[in-house]
Amino acid sequence: MSEKKWITHNPSGTRRVIVTKELPGERWLEILTQADCRIEVCTATEILPVDEIKAAIGNRCAGAIGQLTEDWGEALFVALKGAGGRAYSNYAVGFDNVNLPAATRQQIPVGNTPGVLTGATAEMAVALTFAAARRVVEADAFMRGGHYGGWLPGLFLGELLCGKRVGVVGMGRIGSAYGRMMAEGCKMHVIYYDLRQNKPLEDAIASYGEFLRARGEKPVSCRRAGSIEELLRDADVVSLHAVLDPSTHHLINAERLALMKENAILVNTSRGPLIDEAALVDHCRQNPGFRAALDVFEDEPAMAPGLRDLSNVVVVPHIASATRWSREGMAVLAASNVAGILMGYPAWPHRDISLFLGKEGPRAAPSIVNAREIGLAFHS
Ligand code: DGY
Repeated sequence: MSEKKWITHNPSGTRRVIVTKELPGERWLEILTQADCRIEVCTATEILPVDEIKAAIGNRCAGAIGQLTEDWGEALFVALKGAGGRAYSNYAVGFDNVNLPAATRQQIPVGNTPGVLTGATAEMAVALTFAAARRVVEADAFMRGGHYGGWLPGLFLGELLCGKRVGVVGMGRIGSAYGRMMAEGCKMHVIYYDLRQNKPLEDAIASYGEFLRARGEKPVSCRRAGSIEELLRDADVVSLHAVLDPSTHHLINAERLALMKENAILVNTSRGPLIDEAALVDHCRQNPGFRAALDVFEDEPAMAPGLRDLSNVVVVPHIASATRWSREGMAVLAASNVAGILMGYPAWPHRDISLFLGKEGPRAAPSIVNAREIGLAFHS
C-alpha cells in the first residue's frame, strides 16, 4: 500500500475540487486554476474505497474528478451534494462505475471523456488481435527462456488474418475505429452486432472494397449480424466494444463460447464483466487452439483462477487508452467538465470535442452524460 497523500495546487482557489488520482499533463491543472479552483490530488496508487473518498470530500467540496475503479454511488453523491458539490467527472469514457440516477437525484452533472481515446483503444484492440493471432507473447517468453534452437517450419504457427472475418460487438466510436482498421489495414471482412445500424461505417468499408476491386484485389465487406449468435458462429476474430450494463453482463458465457470457431480469437478492451471469465478459463483449457486477448477483467485487478497459467491467453492491465496524448486529453476533458459546470457554462451538445483540446476551449462543459435529465442548458 502506498502512503495516502494529497497534494494541493492553486491553494488560494476558492472552489475546492478533489481529484482521486494524479493525472498526466499540465493543461488540466491550468483549466481548473483558471476556474478559481483549489485542486487537491491524491497521490496514492491504490483504489480508494468509498469511505476515504467521502472523507476527502469533507464538508466543503465544489467538484470531484474520480476514477473508473471507484464506486461513485448514492453515498458519494449525497456526500458531494452535502458539501456544496456541483460537478463530477469520471476520468474515463465508460461510466458503469457511476450510479447515474443517484447523481441525477442530487442534481449533480456527471462528465466523461469521449473522443480522445477512440484511436488509442482501437489500436490496442488491433495489437491484442495480432498478439493472439501470431502468438507474440508466447514466442517472446520462448526467446527469453533461451529455448530457441534455430528456425523450424512448425515453430509457433498462428492464424493469418487477411481475408478472414472479424466480428465487432458494439459498433460505437471505438468499435467502428477498430472495424475500419481491421478492414482497411488487414483486409478482413467485418460482421458487427449492434442495436443500431452503422451506415457510415458500412459505406466506408464498401468504398474501400470498391477501391480494392478496381485494383484487381478481392473486396472486403461489412454487414450487420441479425444476432450475436450469428456473429459468434461466423467470425474468426471477435472484439468486444459494448458498454457494460445489465444487458451486456456475461454477454459471452459458456454457451456462447461454445458457438465460436475452435481456433477463434476473442479480444476484450471494453469492460471485463462482458465475459464470464471462469467460463473463458474452462473454454481456453479445453480448446488450446482458441485464443483470448484481454485488457479488462471481470474483477479487476484480480484475474479468474487459472487465467494466468494459460498460454493461449494474452493479458494486459487495462491500458488500451494509455497513450500520452489520450490520457492527457482525458484529463483536459475531465477538468473542462468540472470547470465548465462550476463556471455556469452550458453543456456541449456536439460529438466533436476536439475544440476543447486547444489553448482556449469553448465556454461549455464538453461531455455531461446526464445533462438532459438535470435540465442543463446546451451551448448553441
Ligand atoms: C475508459 O475510458 O472507459 C477506459 O476503460 C479507460 O480509458
